[in-house]
Amino acid sequence: MTPQAALERGLTELALALPASTRDQLIAYVMLLAKWNRSYNLTAIRDPLAMVSQHLLDSLAVLPHLPLPPQAARLADVGTGAGLPGIPLALARPHWHVALIESNQKKAAFLRQAAIELGISNVEVHEGRAEAWYPDRLFNMVTSRAFAELAAFVAACRHLLASRDQASAPRGAPAVGAAPAHAAARGGAAPGALRAAGVSAAQVLAVVNQKGGVGKTTTSVNLAAALAQSGRRVLLVDLDPQGNATMGSGVDKRNAARTVYHVLLGLSELAAVRTRTERGGFDLVPANRELAGAEIELVELPARESRLKAALGRVLDEYDFVLIDCPPSLSLLTVNALTAAQRVLIPMQCEYYALEGLSDLVATIKRVRGHLNPQLEIAGLLRTMYDPRNTLSQQVSQQLEAHFGDKVYRTLVPRNVRLAEAPSYGVPAVLWDASSKGAQAYVALAGEIMDRA
Ligand SMILES: Nc1ncnc2c1ncn2[C@@H]1O[C@H](COP(=O)(O)OP(=O)(O)OP(=O)(O)O)[C@@H](O)[C@H]1O
Ligand SMILES: [Mg+2]
Repeated sequence: MTPQAALERGLTELALALPASTRDQLIAYVMLLAKWNRSYNLTAIRDPLAMVSQHLLDSLAVLPHLPLPPQAARLADVGTGAGLPGIPLALARPHWHVALIESNQKKAAFLRQAAIELGISNVEVHEGRAEAWYPDRLFNMVTSRAFAELAAFVAACRHLLASRDQASAPRGAPAVGAAPAHAAARGGAAPGALRAAGVSAAQVLAVVNQKGGVGKTTTSVNLAAALAQSGRRVLLVDLDPQGNATMGSGVDKRNAARTVYHVLLGLSELAAVRTRTERGGFDLVPANRELAGAEIELVELPARESRLKAALGRVLDEYDFVLIDCPPSLSLLTVNALTAAQRVLIPMQCEYYALEGLSDLVATIKRVRGHLNPQLEIAGLLRTMYDPRNTLSQQVSQQLEAHFGDKVYRTLVPRNVRLAEAPSYGVPAVLWDASSKGAQAYVALAGEIMDRA
C-alpha cells in the first residue's frame, strides 16, 4: 500500500474529510521527516507507511476530542518533537494558530524548515521549554504527546492557557490521585476518553529475577518482537553486561561502540545509542561487558539510581512499550530498571526452587517503591520452561496460581527448543519459527499485556 492510500483509508476510518491539497501536504510532511531522519534522529519510526498510521493518523485521531471551533482558535503543542501532533493538526485546521514548543535545537530547526518547505503559515515555532515561556497571547487549548503523566503535563503548561480553556493529553496516563489534575485541566476532556482514540501512554516494563537462567532475556526479546509485530512501538533496553538480549536481537555486542553504559554514565544520549533491530522491528539499546564497570562508576555519580529513568524520559513519547532486560542480580543496575519502570514482569521457572529468592525481590521492589518510584507495581509472574509432562512443573505452576492469583499471567511458556536455538541466529524465536509452541506463547503473552495496558 502507498502512504497516500494508507492516509485515505485512515481518514475514512476517522470520518475526517480533508481537501486533496491538505492530504498532499500531510504526505509531503512525512517525506520530509523521512528525509531528515536519514541525518538526524527525529522519530523512532522511519518507514513512511508506518509514519502515516502512527504519526499522522495518530495525531489527527484527537481532532474530534479537541472541542475548538474550526475557525480562529489558538492551540499549543508542548514538547512537539518532530511536530507531532502539532503539524498534522495545523494542516488539518488552517484557521487555527498552532504553537510548536520544542526545547531540542535540532528538532526546532527541523520544525522551522518544515513550516517553510510545506508552506504552513499558521504555525509558530518556540524553541525552549514550555515551563519557561510566557507568550503575549494565551492559548485556548494545550495538547501534548510528550508526557506520561497528566499531572506533570498540567504543571508544565497551565500558565499557557487562557482562563476556562482546556488541556488535552492524548498520551497522558492519569496520575495517581488524578482528580486534582483533572480539575487543574479545567474540564479538559478526560484522558481516558482520549486514550480510546487509539493513542496510549508508553508503558515501561522491567523484566526482573535475580535468579540466573529463568528466561528473562528470552522473554524480553520475544515479547519485544511480538509487541512490534502487533504494530506497537517498542524499545528494548539490554541492562545486562552479558549482552544476551543484544545478541539475541541480532546486534553484535562486540561491535557496539556505544551502549547503555554510555547512557548511564551520561556520555551519550539514549537517542544516539539506540539502534533498529534488523528483523525484530523494535529499537534496541545494546549492552556488552563494558557495563560491568558501570556498577562501580555509578556509585560516585549523583542520582545514581535514576539515571536510566532520566535517559528514558527523553524518548518515552516515541514508544508504546519499553522493556528492560535485567541482569541476574539485585544490583544498582536492576535498581535503575526498577526506578525507571512502572511495572515489573517476573519470569519464573517452574521448578522446585522457583519461589526461593522471590521474597528478596519483593523486598527490593518495596524499597524502590518507598524511596524512588512510588508507582511501581508487579505486572505479573510469568511461568517459563513449563513441561506439562513433569508433575513437579505442574505442582509449582499450581502453587504460583494459588499464591498469586491473577498476578500470574495466564500464558504458560513451554520448554521449547526453538526458543533456545533462535538466539544463536540472532533472530527472535517469534520470527525464527512463528509456528513453534514457544513463539506462540510469547505472542499470547503480548496479547495479555496489551489487553492489560
Ligand atoms: N521456554 C524455554 N524453553 C527452552 N529453553 C529456554 C526457554 N527459555 C529460555 N531458554 C533457554 O534457557 C537459557 C536461559 O534463558 P535466558 O537467557 O532467557 O534466561 P535469563 O534469565 O535471561 O538468564 P540470565 O540470568 O543469565 O540473564 C537460555 O539458553 C535460553 O535459550
Ligand atoms: Mg538474561
